[in-house]
Amino acid sequence: MKTLLARLSATALLLGSALSALTVEGSTCTVTPLGNGGDDTPQILAAFSECGQDGTIVLTEGEFNIGRVMETLDLRNVDIEIHGTLKWSADIAYWLRSSLPVTFAGRSTAWKLGGDGIRMRGFGKALFDGNGQLWYDQNRNQGNQNGRPISLTLWYAKNVLIDGITWRQAQFWHTFVAYSENITMTNLDMNATSNSQWNTVNTDGIDTWNTKDVYISNWTVTCGDDCISMKGNSSNIHVENVHCYESGCAVIGSMGSSSSQPDYVSDVVFNNITCTHSSNAAWIKTYSGRGYVRNVTFANVAFDDVNQPIYVTPCIYTGQGCDSSRLPISDIRWVNVTGTSRYNIASAIHCSASAPCENLSFENVDIRPKDGTSQLKYLCSNIQNQETSGIPCTGTCPANWPQQLDGNR
Ligand SMILES: *[C@@H]1O[C@H](CO)[C@@H](O)[C@H](O)[C@H]1NC(C)=O
Ligand SMILES: *[C@@H]1O[C@H](CO)[C@@H](O)[C@H](O)[C@H]1NC(C)=O
Ligand SMILES: *[C@@H]1O[C@H](CO)[C@@H](O)[C@H](O)[C@H]1NC(C)=O
Ligand SMILES: *[C@@H]1O[C@H](CO)[C@@H](O)[C@H](O)[C@H]1NC(C)=O
Ligand SMILES: *[C@@H]1O[C@H](CO)[C@@H](O)[C@H](O)[C@H]1NC(C)=O
Ligand SMILES: *[C@@H]1O[C@H](CO)[C@@H](O)[C@H](O)[C@H]1NC(C)=O
Ligand SMILES: *[C@@H]1O[C@H](CO)[C@@H](O)[C@H](O)[C@H]1NC(C)=O
Ligand SMILES: *[C@@H]1O[C@H](CO)[C@@H](O)[C@H](O)[C@H]1NC(C)=O
Repeated sequence: MKTLLARLSATALLLGSALSALTVEGSTCTVTPLGNGGDDTPQILAAFSECGQDGTIVLTEGEFNIGRVMETLDLRNVDIEIHGTLKWSADIAYWLRSSLPVTFAGRSTAWKLGGDGIRMRGFGKALFDGNGQLWYDQNRNQGNQNGRPISLTLWYAKNVLIDGITWRQAQFWHTFVAYSENITMTNLDMNATSNSQWNTVNTDGIDTWNTKDVYISNWTVTCGDDCISMKGNSSNIHVENVHCYESGCAVIGSMGSSSSQPDYVSDVVFNNITCTHSSNAAWIKTYSGRGYVRNVTFANVAFDDVNQPIYVTPCIYTGQGCDSSRLPISDIRWVNVTGTSRYNIASAIHCSASAPCENLSFENVDIRPKDGTSQLKYLCSNIQNQETSGIPCTGTCPANWPQQLDGNR
């Protein structure tokens, strides 16, 4: 009781008059929103430090204002139960200045969550509102604005469940998983849609990096960029039952951007993925760096009105080193991939002449033109054993072939 009072008074000091914002009972910390427009972050962080090890953290119903970055690491065996809304503040200048770096490509985040044994559940009620429209409008279609924060980053996290959370108008990428393993993320609903002339840009659903053993299922994502994407050093990734709208859908990459550090992606299965009105469906994008892409299956991918359904490039964005890249791509299977292509390209695969693709296979790939009449092209370059790959190649794929088309080719 003494400790409890001590804790409560410590909290009271922190909160001034709003004593009820954090209550601690045994190993359970319950946070209620201040409800007076004040910043709820201090009491949430206090709950993580009090109950983040062998404890339970409950965020009740109501709206929590998140006014500063959250770094909740070294958690251990914790249940995080979120019933309400987390709304990130509109103070763009603060976030640009203070977002927490995540190493990868100079990106940063609003929330780093890490430790061993973390179960974060939203029960289908938790809502993460990134106040993203402000971000889309000030960003004015730039790519990868420095300081623009990823909503949630799993950082040195192990044995994690994230379940039942809805995101609306994320600031930047919805989730990033780095230096982590055994991560299950289920029943997530994400939608970032701009209502102005400016696009959302870089509101990816998930990117994994230096991470293994990831299980993703039951997601619905509208994001205007990569939906589910594996970046360098990702392995044993299982993605199932995902519906992506307005996105890049099932993606490997981009990766291999460094000539000094290799990037490896292996053992990835996408299964039962639906792509609606998207840029690409089942595709691989690397820079001409080092490393490899190996053993990736795109199975049961259904799509509708996709700009360029199957795309493989060794020189994404730069167009440099398309034929000198030594980042080999092998054992890639597209099976039961069906849908409509917006233009007359079903697939465009350009492998590097210096590292031809090996063991690519198409099985039951059934792509039809959206207009019902165009003759579809399957473009192929530098594919070993092309004759036995099952790819009905119709011609060569030029180096630096674009990711997005603006009409028939
Ligand atoms: C993986 O994490 C889950 C929690 O999501 C846990 O139940 C399971 O035991 C972990 N698996 C291993 C092999 O540690
Ligand atoms: C995403 O949100 C936009 C804007 O509110 C809406 O038009 C669209 O239908 C939503 N997408 C899905 C899949 O619900
Ligand atoms: C996915 O959703 C289905 C249907 O709502 C549900 O039965 C299943 O348990 C969910 N899977 C997971 C892993 O939560
Ligand atoms: C495929 O995923 C969708 C969600 O996108 C789900 O409704 C459907 O049940 C899944 N199909 C199978 C066979 O699991
Ligand atoms: C990927 O892993 C390899 C081998 O473990 C390591 O050398 C490399 O630095 C990692 N790449 C990145 C970008 O972290
Ligand atoms: C390919 O990766 C999947 C997913 O990790 C794995 O189940 C399968 O065994 C791998 N296949 C080979 C040949 O390594
Ligand atoms: C492809 O579809 C066929 C027919 O529906 C099914 O039998 C087979 O299991 C599917 N293959 C994979 C790898 O899911
Ligand atoms: C291609 O597949 C064959 C047969 O499964 C296998 O022996 C070979 O190692 C594979 N090559 C690569 C580069 O993965």
